[in-house]
Amino acid sequence: MVARRWRGEGHMNYRRLSGRAAVAVVLALGGLAGARAADPVVERGRYLITIASCMYCHTPGYFLGKPDIARRFAGSDVGVEIPSVGVFYGPNLTPDKETGLGAWTDAEVAAAITSGRRPDGRQLAPIMPWRAFATLTKPDVSAIIAYLKSLPPVRNKVPGPFGPLDPPTSYVMKVVPPEVQNVAIQVGGSLAERWCAGCHDVARTPQGASAEANRAPSFKAIAVRSSTTRESLDRHLSAAHTGMPDFSLSRYERSLLIGYILSLR
Ligand code: HEC
Ligand code: HEC
Repeated sequence: MVARRWRGEGHMNYRRLSGRAAVAVVLALGGLAGARAADPVVERGRYLITIASCMYCHTPGYFLGKPDIARRFAGSDVGVEIPSVGVFYGPNLTPDKETGLGAWTDAEVAAAITSGRRPDGRQLAPIMPWRAFATLTKPDVSAIIAYLKSLPPVRNKVPGPFGPLDPPTSYVMKVVPPEVQNVAIQVGGSLAERWCAGCHDVARTPQGASAEANRAPSFKAIAVRSSTTRESLDRHLSAAHTGMPDFSLSRYERSLLIGYILSLR
């Protein structure tokens, strides 16, 4: 719809490009000449999608250093974790009807890109930089959509999204903006109170007596010990213990608890 309306205005928009951008587009077009007549709107979309780095987060293997170009835009196999919010995977953007954007209207795809709104009403996690993309012009959004529609459909359902306490099923990267880090520490603290305070004094300022009675060191005492590191805590919490119940903590839960303990230093 929108894409079609713009198609007639293609030339006008090329003139608005900066010199360098125009050269890039011309080169891209030149590279394809002969193979098939390139649709200038699709080529503009290809160009925009390249400079917006959509590929990194939406292509399998990209974060593992081995982008699977044949399945480009078929969805990431690496989740990005926002502590205490969840783990999100860049979904499949190819036109596959069931696992990609094949069943979405252009308006729905445009809303997801520029306002982070999915057709089911869910707001996309801010890992998807839709706030930055809100400034894209309508013709540019249409060009991006035209490019995505020109991709071969690939069937691939990405995992998730996972909530903060679900263990994700694959490799995860972490983004920790400072304000989120504080939230994560608070969440870790409330887990510690719920699960660990029966034996450990988990308070920021331990009272002493109750901890001694249980012979479990206070979290503060554990935190300030020089031998305590993120790794040593993770090893302790991953293994089974005589003095401690087996919590079978997920990696994410361990990271929240460890973050809290280390914040007591
Ligand atoms: C830094 C990583 C990143 C970049 C860059 C990025 N995305 Fe995303 N995108 C995501 C993640 C993660 C999600 C899923 C978030 C969620 O589920 O809450 C997403 C969701 C989407 C969705 C919704 C799809 C669905 O099934 O819910 C669309 C459409 C989309 N991105 C398009 C784009 C386009 C087009 C670009 C480039 C202009 C782009 N993305 C750049 C990470 C990224
Ligand atoms: C039933 C009592 C009990 C509960 C509940 C418990 N612990 Fe412990 N924990 C102990 C005892 C006793 C020790 C000291 C002996 C040992 O290391 O097994 C200990 C030791 C530790 C240590 C190692 C301290 C050191 O000396 O290096 C860590 C870390 C720890 N606990 C974390 C936790 C966390 C996190 C929780 C909650 C998820 C928890 N514990 C819940 C009893 C408990």
